[in-house]
Parts: sequence; structure tokens; C-alpha cells
Amino acid sequence: MTAPRNTGGDPERPFETVIATSFTVSVLAALGLAVLYWQGGQPQLEGALLAVAAAGIAVGLITWSHRLMPNEPESEELDDPGSSSSERQVFDDDLDYGNVLSRRRLLRRFLMASLVAVGAAFLFPLRSLGPRPTDRELDDTPWKFGTRLVTEGGAPVLAADVPANGLVTVFPEGALNSENGQAVLMRVDPTLLRPLPGRESWTPQGLIAYSKVCTHAGCPVGLYEASSHQLLCPCHQSTFDVLDGAKPVFGPAALRLPQLPLAVDPTGRVYATGGFSEPPGPANWNRKS
Ligand code: FES
Repeated sequence: MTAPRNTGGDPERPFETVIATSFTVSVLAALGLAVLYWQGGQPQLEGALLAVAAAGIAVGLITWSHRLMPNEPESEELDDPGSSSSERQVFDDDLDYGNVLSRRRLLRRFLMASLVAVGAAFLFPLRSLGPRPTDRELDDTPWKFGTRLVTEGGAPVLAADVPANGLVTVFPEGALNSENGQAVLMRVDPTLLRPLPGRESWTPQGLIAYSKVCTHAGCPVGLYEASSHQLLCPCHQSTFDVLDGAKPVFGPAALRLPQLPLAVDPTGRVYATGGFSEPPGPANWNRKS
């Protein structure tokens, strides 16, 4: 008996096209990500390309499983498993009709290519981790003994200009764009301060300064509530007690903000008498408190 030959259009062909296109898009997105990464990277675009690459595989696999795989169990009673040579030839012809087998093989290759490409793309972020920074690198800020505090505009900070209960963002003189050197300077009632041991002389005239880089994830800690003497990080609401060495009192931050030791020279200018008490920022893995 001769198997019926599909003389009309192959109903699976459009789905195979969708699958092949999905896997191809996935590969192209992964290649685009690789090129972008080696050219310096752009986080938002990299994330979008990674999402497209993963979505391409997902769409391809879902279409494949829903449209090309049998959805119900099929059974057939076989009286005589033997076939004549002519029947086997007809069977082979039917299987090869429309190059179904070769097309499926091609789809499998598309799938393998997209999996390899996306797998490699997921490895890029690992490479970006880089080596673990050393303590020296973490603590490498422009602050040292004698470094004057300047405003964001570069003007020297005079003690008399810092308003009571106010906050001023300050930088080390000569390093206006320093990310790990930025700090917040406040003036509080000196009698309220509870300095940590060894820091009793760090707050002349009630002036007190901390790193502006949040110890949770590095956002700028720029909000100051003078009535409660608390610094607030707007990213995840970590709150630090200014009077108590910037101890975290709320939110996800577990570490104090590093404090900057201050002094005032005879002309009234504020300067640092050393670097931060600890390396600033969230990457200060070796800190204990
Ligand atoms: S970065 Fe400041 S609370 Fe998360």
C-alpha cells in the first residue's frame, strides 16, 4: 500500500520558518552583545540584547514543542512488521518529501548555534568581574593630611559658611570629579556628638564629614534630616545616624559611612587631617563594622 503523499503546501513549513527565525535572531543578538561588549559596553543595550537572545530561544523551543511535536500518544497495531522493498522505498520517499528530515536537521543546528551563542553571552558578565581589588586600591582616595575641602564648584569651604544643621557636598581640592572622594559635610551641636573612640578631635566646631557613597550599593547619600540628625540614602532608604559615627539605623546598609577627620586652619578653611576612616563605597569587603 502506498502512503498518501502531501500534495498541498506543507502545513509545518511556516512554523519551521518561525523557529529558524527565532534561533537566528537569538544568535544575532548574542553576536551583537559580543561586539558591543568588546567595544566598551553599554549596560542597558547589553541587557536588552541578552533578553532578545534568550527570548529567541524560548520562542523557538515553544513553537517547536507545540507545532512540530505530536501532542497525543499514537499507537498502531502491527500484524506483520515486515515490509517489502517497494514499501520501504515508498516510506523513504515520503520521509524525504519536502526535505522534512534535512529541514529538521537544520533546525537542530540553528538551536545548537543559538544555545552556544547565548551561553557564551552569559559568560561576558563573569569576565567583567575582574580581579578582587586590594585593600590599597579600595582605600585609594585623594584625601590625605592637609587636603582642603572644596564645594562642587571648587570654592574652598570656610567653617563659618557651613550653616547649622545644613549639609554641603564637598570634594578634595584638586579632585573635583573624584567619585570615591566625595563627602557630605554637616554642622551639628558639638555637645550632641557621640564620637567613636579615637575620633574625638575629628569634628572641630561641630563640623562632621562622611563619605557620600552609600555602603549598601554605592548611591549618593545626599538627604539630611537635621531634626533627627540622620542621613538618608534615596536608593533603598538606608539611614545613618550622624551623631553616632554614621551608624546604619534603618535599611539594607550594614556598614557605617566612613568618616573624614577634619580640622580648621587659622584662616577658617576646613581641611582633612587624613583619609577616610575606612575604604568608601559598597566594595569594602574587609570591613567588619
Ligand atoms: S544604595 Fe543606599 S540604601 Fe541601597
